[in-house]
Amino acid sequence: MKPTRLEKILYRLEAQCACFDWVFDQIKNEPGVVFEIGLGLGRTFNHMRHYLPDRTILAFDRKMSAYPDCMPEEDEIIFGELAETLPKAAQAYKGQVVLAHSDIGSFDREQNKMIAELVSANLLPALAPQGLIMSDLPLNIAQTERLALPEGAREDRYYLYRRV
Ligand SMILES: C[S@@+](CC[C@H](N)C(=O)[O-])C[C@H]1O[C@@H](n2cnc3c(N)ncnc32)[C@H](O)[C@@H]1O
Repeated sequence: MKPTRLEKILYRLEAQCACFDWVFDQIKNEPGVVFEIGLGLGRTFNHMRHYLPDRTILAFDRKMSAYPDCMPEEDEIIFGELAETLPKAAQAYKGQVVLAHSDIGSFDREQNKMIAELVSANLLPALAPQGLIMSDLPLNIAQTERLALPEGAREDRYYLYRRV
């Protein structure tokens, strides 16, 4: 049976939490920067800030709609269209990103396809060797391998990649 919208949200959040637990453990001894691509309401930024208190985390969005208690500091946010900001940031932080969390999907399939292509085309230079990507949309990035989801995340509810 097809999942309902409520179940889709539940499975997505369940997978997000399980993937965050896993990636936090993977990067705990790896220095480097974290990208939050899609700040939105700031829920996942807030989660990362809480569990990665000493990391540089840079959040991308075209607008500020984060809850007041989930807002990044001024120097932690890169405002603008990803088509412009991501290629620039990927060069500015070349090879430094140990974790990129891309959370930019919506219920618009065409838009999802376009934005996944944009992220796929521009993120690679930023990734550190073995750098990880957590994504709400499937990505197609050269020099990365898709990883199995950790326990607690249902298949295809989130996507994990590692630079090889
Ligand atoms: C699903 S929300 C992010 C949810 C967020 N991670 C959270 O946990 O609250 C997606 C965000 O991506 C931003 N976004 C989508 N496409 C974008 C683009 N092309 N350029 C900049 N921001 C974009 C939207 O403005 C939106 O705030």
